[in-house]
Amino acid sequence: MTTEFAIPSGRFRGHERQQVWTAEPDPELTDVGPGTPCGEYLRRYWMPFAMTDQVGDLPLRVRVLGEDLVLFREKGGTLGLVHLHCAHRNMSLEFGIIEEGGIRCSYHGWKYAPDGTILETPCEPPASQIKTKACLGAYPVIEFKGLAFTYMGPQESMPPFPVFDTFDEEGDEMIPYLINSPCNWLQVMENAWDPFHVVYLHTKAVRTQFIDAFAELPAIEFFERPYGSFYTNTRRVGDIIWLRIHDKMLPSFTQNGGHFPVPDGPRYFGRCGLSRWVTPIDDTNTMVIAWRHFREGDDPQGLTDRNEVGYGKTDFYGQGGDRPYEQRQRDPGDYDAWASQGPKNVHARENLGFTDRGVAKVRRTLRAAIRAVQAGEDAAQPALIFNGTIPTYGGDTMLRIPAQEGHDDAALLKEVAHKVAEIYMSADHLQGKERAAFIRRGLEDYEASWQGGPQMGAAPQEHDQQRQSGAL
Ligand SMILES: [Fe+2]
Repeated sequence: MTTEFAIPSGRFRGHERQQVWTAEPDPELTDVGPGTPCGEYLRRYWMPFAMTDQVGDLPLRVRVLGEDLVLFREKGGTLGLVHLHCAHRNMSLEFGIIEEGGIRCSYHGWKYAPDGTILETPCEPPASQIKTKACLGAYPVIEFKGLAFTYMGPQESMPPFPVFDTFDEEGDEMIPYLINSPCNWLQVMENAWDPFHVVYLHTKAVRTQFIDAFAELPAIEFFERPYGSFYTNTRRVGDIIWLRIHDKMLPSFTQNGGHFPVPDGPRYFGRCGLSRWVTPIDDTNTMVIAWRHFREGDDPQGLTDRNEVGYGKTDFYGQGGDRPYEQRQRDPGDYDAWASQGPKNVHARENLGFTDRGVAKVRRTLRAAIRAVQAGEDAAQPALIFNGTIPTYGGDTMLRIPAQEGHDDAALLKEVAHKVAEIYMSADHLQGKERAAFIRRGLEDYEASWQGGPQMGAAPQEHDQQRQSGAL
């Protein structure tokens, strides 16, 4: 008896595509160690690298941008961040002794100030000059609301610490969190520039990780500011036009819209759900480090639990690798998307489409910024471009603007997005409550101009004219 096997039909390209699978990653954008183009660029910015809760009465060994370091709080309260190995015989300072004014190596007692100055070399003869000749590498630390930030670039290029307008708002409880991922930083950072994955990964893939309204494909518009950019995700939910606005600033700062908004009525200039950075640990490990913002009214359905926010965890779905494997397979989240691209994603084997224009844009902009620093130029610093508290836009606005008879709704969403962005940006000269009130007034007036449809009253006609002339 002969057994016959039907050969599956189709064109199988496994062997052919192997060539692409062996393609190299893109080190100009991915590699972060000392002396690398991207590493040098990132070293021009203040970046958070630890939660201050992690630092107790012992030194904390950390790795940032491929450098092994020790973070400690000397007994006077100041945080120090120094190279891991003692400048004397290279014993690791993770075994050091914390004292008033600094950290002392356990091996021969050399003591270091937070800036790496050698304070004492007790085993050396009194006349020894070794402590004035040697020193330990150290980086400055700024501590703010539970996060420790450092600047690891050349001292002469150190920018002022950028203070964004969301860092200290009345009625806002900010809770820090930090989650590690075993992959390159760019994969994590790019996820924030990809508004379309929300529609699929978070909503349609298996279950709704946020709210049903996210399933609607948003209209996306990008807006540039001298110190960064933001984009609007605009959707219609019944009579409501819902704008979810995300701040995106290189190298890795993001402020998204709210996490659990309910677009069932007007909301004017709601603020962001998080302020988040992506800090490389090394080339294949990355931390997401952020504050979650909790304000009255941000979570009308009571979906969140602020006790879920902290070291290694946050209150929204799929941000870490701590879930059972089968659950991750059945219901993957952001972590599974970026970590499963591999330790370093290979761009040559991707096929970018229309929905990837944010990703393409950020890679292009990042590459240009890295090359500028390589060419000896200064990195763009928000704190220098905008002198003072830096205005940001992230958050939600919901306007009651029903679909207009005889008008293309997709065009209307785009028009509204541009007008709302214009109203936001027109208040950049103001701060705090004054700015919020100004923006709210602008949004309310604009919303009111649409009531009754464009055929009724002067304001909507004006919109028609502007729409035709392309002014909006
Ligand atoms: Fe996501």
